[in-house]
Amino acid sequence: MQQVVRNVKIIGTGSYVPEKIITNKYLESIVDTNAEWIQNILGIKERRIAAENQATSDLACKAGVKAIENAKLKVDEIDLIIVATSTPDRLCPSTACIVQDKLKAYDAVAFDIAAVCSGFFYGMSVASQYISSGVYSNILVIGADVFSKITDWTRRDCVFFGDGAGAAVLSHANENEGFLAFRLYSDGRGKHSFTVPAGGSENPASTKTVNEKLHYFQMNGREVYKTAIDVLPKAINKVLDDTGLTVDDIDYMIPHQPGIGILKKTAEILGLPFEKVLTNMDKYANTSAGTIPILLDEANRAGKLKKDNIILFAAVGAGWTWGASIIKWS
Ligand SMILES: CC(C)(COP(=O)(O)OP(=O)(O)OC[C@H]1O[C@@H](n2cnc3c(N)ncnc32)[C@H](O)[C@@H]1OP(=O)(O)O)[C@@H](O)C(=O)NCCC(=O)NCCS
Repeated sequence: MQQVVRNVKIIGTGSYVPEKIITNKYLESIVDTNAEWIQNILGIKERRIAAENQATSDLACKAGVKAIENAKLKVDEIDLIIVATSTPDRLCPSTACIVQDKLKAYDAVAFDIAAVCSGFFYGMSVASQYISSGVYSNILVIGADVFSKITDWTRRDCVFFGDGAGAAVLSHANENEGFLAFRLYSDGRGKHSFTVPAGGSENPASTKTVNEKLHYFQMNGREVYKTAIDVLPKAINKVLDDTGLTVDDIDYMIPHQPGIGILKKTAEILGLPFEKVLTNMDKYANTSAGTIPILLDEANRAGKLKKDNIILFAAVGAGWTWGASIIKWS
């Protein structure tokens, strides 16, 4: 196939969160935590929790259908489905293949990306490459996670996460619009700071791993905080340099939602007024790969994003994985 270089933009967004709400007050009644602390320190008031029979692919499909509708496309016009998740339906096959089947998008290629909270951001960058080179035209990128299913509800770090999915359809754009820059980073030396120790090939599921609760996530909160406020501003400054823009040119930042403290500190280091930083962790907590596309969909449907707005995406997640990108909205 002839290789070309095309600009890439977002032509549709969608999102879905489960109905069940769990408040801080409720968590206070089941674990040793404090509702005010969760709200004041993390910025979280409540989170959504998937039903017992809802898998990641169910949330992903609902978000995906809405994004395809919003893009005014038909399912058979989607060339590629990328699902970013760290709570896949099964170890194999990929959740993307399960989503493809549920959407009946049999003309699409489908694969997953595992980059935890940076997953959707990584997914957009991959999609961007395929569209830019002319290989594919319309790509559905979904970020979906159900951390409730890998959470130990007897430990106080159950307060951080919620379940949800968001999606975007990426397609080719005219010159002078769409994505202007991407910077992605990884550092596997952080692999122990946030992890699910068992259930993979290193430590297969057994009665012992279940008894020792090794199938739940484990997090070193202090390491997450320290790393995030170090790497996020650096990545953001890189994409600003790449594009010749300054922090004053940013209309909105649509970041991952790890907690309000990390975002406030990042904005302070950058000199970005916090009013420009969009958040929704108060309603949904950290939905991992779901945060950026859910927030993007809410902003898009609220009519907040105007033509030529400069939008900054930034994410940091386990691995470590992180990065930033800038899009000129159209
Ligand atoms: C969670 C975080 C605020 C804790 O701060 P810390 O200084 O690293 O951790 P500490 O264990 O020393 O706790 C500090 C205080 O918070 C309280 N605290 C920590 N976790 C708590 C919880 N889940 N519920 C209630 N209080 C909590 C501690 O009791 C302690 O209170 P004290 O000062 O009165 O003793 C901070 O590490 C953070 O924001 N990390 C980022 C985590 C994150 O974003 N994770 C999700 C993305 S992967």
